[in-house]
Amino acid sequence: MCGIVGYLGPLDPKDVILQGLKKLEYRGYDSAGVAILHNGVAKQVRASGKLQALEDKLKSENFNGRLGIGHTRWATHGAPTERNAHPHQVDGISLVHNGIIENDQDLRDELIKDGAKILSDTDSELVAHLVAREVKKTNSLQQAVENILPKLRGAFSIVVIWNQSPDEMIAFKDGPPLVVGLGDKENFFASDVQALLKYTKKFIYLDDREIVRIHGQKVEVMTSAGQPINKKSVEINWSPDLVEKQGFAHYMLKEIYEQPRAVAAALESHINADTHRIQLKVEGPTASEFTNLLKTTNRFMIVACGTSYYAAQVAKYYIESLVKIPVDVDIASEFRYRSPILDTNTLFMTISQSGETADTLAAIRLAKEKGLKTMSLCNVRGSSIDREAFVKLYMQSGPEIGVASTKAFTSTLTLLACLALDWAKAKDQLKSEDEIKIVKALLAAPSQIEGVLNYDKYFNEASQKLKSYRGFLYMGRGSSFPIAMEGALKMKELAYLHAEGYAAGEMKHGPLALIDERMAIVMLCPQDQWYEKTVSNLEEAKARGGQIIALGTGEDERLKSRSHFYLPLPKAHWMVNPIISTIPLQLMSYHLASHLGYDVDQPRNLAKSVTVE
Ligand code: F6R
Repeated sequence: MCGIVGYLGPLDPKDVILQGLKKLEYRGYDSAGVAILHNGVAKQVRASGKLQALEDKLKSENFNGRLGIGHTRWATHGAPTERNAHPHQVDGISLVHNGIIENDQDLRDELIKDGAKILSDTDSELVAHLVAREVKKTNSLQQAVENILPKLRGAFSIVVIWNQSPDEMIAFKDGPPLVVGLGDKENFFASDVQALLKYTKKFIYLDDREIVRIHGQKVEVMTSAGQPINKKSVEINWSPDLVEKQGFAHYMLKEIYEQPRAVAAALESHINADTHRIQLKVEGPTASEFTNLLKTTNRFMIVACGTSYYAAQVAKYYIESLVKIPVDVDIASEFRYRSPILDTNTLFMTISQSGETADTLAAIRLAKEKGLKTMSLCNVRGSSIDREAFVKLYMQSGPEIGVASTKAFTSTLTLLACLALDWAKAKDQLKSEDEIKIVKALLAAPSQIEGVLNYDKYFNEASQKLKSYRGFLYMGRGSSFPIAMEGALKMKELAYLHAEGYAAGEMKHGPLALIDERMAIVMLCPQDQWYEKTVSNLEEAKARGGQIIALGTGEDERLKSRSHFYLPLPKAHWMVNPIISTIPLQLMSYHLASHLGYDVDQPRNLAKSVTVE
């Protein structure tokens, strides 16, 4: 969703802001703009479409000021036109905004009555009017922002500058993420640390309802009433290189190829590679507190969205099978608006790559309110969800830029398998030989993924032939069922083709009617405890003319003879199969979308970090 960058310092703000906005492109946007001081006045340059359009306009522009703000907009109120792009300017105030102002209609009516000339369809411009009106009375930008906050309802982060105070930026956060970057004689605001890694590794993560004043070289964090807060800064050790494409055609392809390393990194701190024993290392409680929590907890609940939700579905198979406690899995946007029955003997987990998904964040807050012990599995340390959780576990995937989640998903599965092992051990449910066997199987996963990636050329060729299908049904049983749903999601979001993920045993209860020779059936058929039943389902689909693309274990002649395409995967433990089977599904969708000429890294209408509900 929208991206914000603000800069005050000795460098050229145009360069810093453009570099930063480029790093935020992954969030999804449809227009962009900057306001940078020049001869004491913030000059506004905006363009609809991709950043390149803004960059082209900025080529002939020079700025002699050292203060500026920039924005990439993901349209909510009003079309993605230049007129609606940020920053919005009113009487010397320039403002960028991420989020939604819910009472925009009331504010619009009030401002029009007051004689304001409103130029855009956005809720954001209204905030600029309110600040401009207030700063005339107070002659203080900070005071003006403080005064208008009680008038705003919704979830929003803003950064604002004022021509009459050329050494100052004020920001306020209530919802969408905002960080302060601390540099040497320079300071920054951004929606995400990735925008600023080139300039600094030192950040302050803002909490909701905090105001920040960057004034000269000083950074002050305050409550919304202006009371000073002592905030700690954190060092982020991601290198800017990790955020580059490094020779790959797309971030997504690079991230698919990073999976052997990402899965190995996910395992590293939890597994003793010599003794093949597990000990999950979490942050928050001490090791013995955490073990005790696992020992005494008899119910597990996981809430997430999208791909993270499918990972949670796989965890249900892992944990019910190993730990033998009930596991409930829910979609965050449903969970928060149901009346969920929550008891305090439940461990409540949220999974979120970004750590900023609005529905997931609201879900963990609700669980906390109800007195449940909370746990988060995030990729971004210090993110909003991470900060809410009592127990913190990290994906360790490194930055994921492609909008479609890939390496974070397989890292998540790896960690959920580790959690299942650790929990089963805490409850005395795990035999020592089983622990060793599963740990060895997990340790083999990175090189098995490597092996699958070696077949990429073949997946690429196969994907060329998929263009002609009318639709895709992805089928699996057991822990392959959520992977079928994940495969279908990748096909939808990247190749814009209709795809459904189904439990293979459900086929005869409806989807069978869809099958004819124009329907591709992607059958996940590894040799596990569900194999025989899945092969029967494959036969049913084939008998109705479905074009079978089967994923199986090794050279499975039975599957081969029944499939139009057969994709062999290495033999693995059933808990590792979901990790391995994901790779060809990612590659098939990636290649098909590329052949169709679609923007693989930023699929239409989607955003990486869904900070509004
Ligand atoms: C799909 C995808 C999304 C995200 C979802 C949740 O490829 O990336 O479905 O998984 O928006 O995002 P996080 O995990 O950041 O909460």
